[in-house]
Amino acid sequence: MTVELNGIRLRNRLLTSASLLGYGASKRRLILYGLSPIAQWVPLERFGAVVTRTLTGEPREGHFSLREDWRLRELPQMLRLYAGAVRRVDSGWINAFGWSNIGIDRYFDEYFLRTSHLNRIISVGGFSADEFGSLVETVNRRAVPGAIAAIEFNVSCHNVDFSFEAILEEVLRRAVPVSRHPVILKLSPDEDYIEHARMAERHGVAALTAINSVKALRLDPRTGEPLLRNRYGSLSGRAIKPIGLRVVAELRDAGIRLPIIATAGIRDFDDCREFFWAGADAVSLGSAVWLRPMPLYALGPLEGLRIRRLIDRVSRYEVPRRAVEIGPPLATDPAEPVDAWRELAGSATR
Ligand SMILES: Cc1cc2nc3c(=O)[nH]c(=O)nc-3n(C[C@H](O)[C@H](O)[C@H](O)COP(=O)(O)O)c2cc1C
Repeated sequence: MTVELNGIRLRNRLLTSASLLGYGASKRRLILYGLSPIAQWVPLERFGAVVTRTLTGEPREGHFSLREDWRLRELPQMLRLYAGAVRRVDSGWINAFGWSNIGIDRYFDEYFLRTSHLNRIISVGGFSADEFGSLVETVNRRAVPGAIAAIEFNVSCHNVDFSFEAILEEVLRRAVPVSRHPVILKLSPDEDYIEHARMAERHGVAALTAINSVKALRLDPRTGEPLLRNRYGSLSGRAIKPIGLRVVAELRDAGIRLPIIATAGIRDFDDCREFFWAGADAVSLGSAVWLRPMPLYALGPLEGLRIRRLIDRVSRYEVPRRAVEIGPPLATDPAEPVDAWRELAGSATR
């Protein structure tokens, strides 16, 4: 069963969130660099789509490393670096990788062909409209229409210490019309996401992803030193599920009609249903599934089976009817949107 969301072709409504599965493949058989170890027990081609790590024009070390050739004796050094970029905290994770990625050209050279069996969404990030324009041109040139499901604009990351709000409208105005692929805008819960969603509707964006992780801070209680190298980081996982639900529901209450892909602590079928009821059109597995505490990796095969069953259940689930299935975004009267959406939601099928 395939699903089409405003021109975005998905194999089903269950996706994987940006970056949690790296670039969609591992180069090494034993050390699944960039991939969650759990990924080896799930055929990734069965997901509605797999979203890549955010790619930039040039490779970036960020707050981690681009090295893939760690020797066994260097493992402690690697783990120390890793601990400065991602930490397990109460009910979730705090991370600040800072767009550590190999760059868009190396992604196409080294991973694009190897992941052709997946339905892919390519996440891109930049610091100006020019950079987004050039990333879109690269994707246009290297991926023919239909080769990927969409391109996702990450204009909402806290870990690169940049104010994206200042460039958002120009990015959308200039980069969306030149894309040969549907564009998804990823929203931050820490910014004016309703205004950003309205901007997305005005500029021809095909769908929204809600939410990017939540700006957060943890300190070592003994020393007051930040746990992460970047001081601030982003919170993800179970802790942010209610925030994600709030954002999706508020977008619908505000009359936003673009399809919404939800990601915020989603782990099981009830989480998915909750997000569908709040107004999501697709749901995505992120850190609550792929970043399990290490000892649980021993249970990887069982977790793989559970995820495969989850894909089946979500594929069979008849989601509540959403505005997007009725047509493209309306030129909404800002005074009326809540009622318009409630009317549509009222006709939902259970
Ligand atoms: C370790 C880690 C790295 C992430 N890297 C990216 C990224 O490169 N680009 C992006 O758009 N989101 C990134 N995210 C955010 C996730 O895609 C997702 O939006 C967020 O974690 C909320 O969903 P979750 O609670 O289900 O994980 C990252 C999240 C984590 C935990």
